[in-house]
Amino acid sequence: MFSAQTYIQRRHALRAQLNGGVILLLGNEDSSMNYQHNIYPFRQDSSFLYYFGLDQVHLAGWIDIDSGEEILFGDELTLDDIIWTGPLPALKAQAEQVGVSQTSPYASLSKKLREAIALRRTIHFLPPYRPINQHKIAAWFEIPYASVPDHVSMPLIHAVIAQRSIKSVEEIEQMEMAVNTTRKMHIAAMQNARVGMIEAELAGLVEGLAISGGGRLAYPVIMTVNGQTLHNHHHHNTLKSGQLVLGDYGAENEMHYAGDITRTFPVDSTFTTRQKEIYELVLQAEEAAIAALRPGIAYQQVHLMVARLLTEGLKGLGLMQGDTDESVAAGAYALFMPHGLGHMIGLDVHDMEDLGEDHVGYSATVERSRQFGLSALRLGRELEAGFVLTVEPGLYFIPELIDRWKAEGRHQAFLNYERIETYKDFSGIRIEDNVLVTEQGYRVLGDPIPKTVAEVEALRQA
Ligand code: GLY
Ligand code: MN
Ligand code: MN
Repeated sequence: MFSAQTYIQRRHALRAQLNGGVILLLGNEDSSMNYQHNIYPFRQDSSFLYYFGLDQVHLAGWIDIDSGEEILFGDELTLDDIIWTGPLPALKAQAEQVGVSQTSPYASLSKKLREAIALRRTIHFLPPYRPINQHKIAAWFEIPYASVPDHVSMPLIHAVIAQRSIKSVEEIEQMEMAVNTTRKMHIAAMQNARVGMIEAELAGLVEGLAISGGGRLAYPVIMTVNGQTLHNHHHHNTLKSGQLVLGDYGAENEMHYAGDITRTFPVDSTFTTRQKEIYELVLQAEEAAIAALRPGIAYQQVHLMVARLLTEGLKGLGLMQGDTDESVAAGAYALFMPHGLGHMIGLDVHDMEDLGEDHVGYSATVERSRQFGLSALRLGRELEAGFVLTVEPGLYFIPELIDRWKAEGRHQAFLNYERIETYKDFSGIRIEDNVLVTEQGYRVLGDPIPKTVAEVEALRQA
């Protein structure tokens, strides 16, 4: 946890952005897996963590914008809780850790809300993404469950996004810790992969290192010889000579900040010529994108710059043809990169996605495209110093997508389908790093993680 002062300042800054009323921030509850007492690992809500810091179930934070009153709603542990799950500091002591002086039993929250509703005060709350919190809101406000999303506070959403988007120095330190644990995970996978292994053995190895780092995974591990499936969570294939392994995984550190790194490496000790050609192209695009980062540039423009670079490179390999600008404008490159260049990262791997992807990633001046590929870009807006984002270009040969586009004759002026057919067994390559936008430009977070062909091959031979 950060110092109480950090949380006091954050709440103070949030209040200053809103025009009156009450802010209600709900923490998360335990969530059952297959019967009530077998639970998923507890994960606190990220906005609750940001403003109230406490990593426990069944808490809610109250901030009266007008009077400044702050209350932590929660319950003291019962003896039964203590017997089964251990003691905790009293609620009052927990609240003091984050600079809140007033506490109240959780059940009293509904009365407090009713009083505020009776006075016609605005109660600002964020979009719930867990059914239990949506149910609570529906009951407290006496509105239908399905209508809860219609009542969320847009001013609160925008204020929280504006604040959480700019990472403080102490947050960056935490994010570097997460990336450095993630680095160890990637190096271990690259050192230990062998022909004949099952993907699950490598997935288990890296998950263990995330836990050893004091936290856990920030999202489910992608460790696959079928990198053409973008979010492939199956780990049952055997590693065979000639294949590539695409590993996309990251640690969430003890303070719940995420790392999100991708590396792709050969099962053999060296890349084949064909693999190296595609790999170098992705790497060149990734490095050019990182070098372009600075305050003011729209990330959508960086995505399109990458699209041009990839198109030029694929033309050089005989996979694409025609005028590069026309081809990019038409979106032909999306056959090979159907996802966006990256997203914000912080307490969430896709930071604040619960508050609305477009509210986080787009602005009054940069609108989300509807074009296949570019439409999947989660972050398109102008960058600001203090943003942390991922840069993750990739090239994939997705047989089903190739077949569909070929059958439709889609973008045939720009795509050499005859040659593309010969790459259908290629799989995919992605390279991903986490980057801080600074006043001067950028800083890649964490110690360098091997990514040149020479560095990756050296690890594969170690
Ligand atoms: N790991 C998911 C992503 O790269 O966005
Ligand atoms: Mn990733
Ligand atoms: Mn990512």
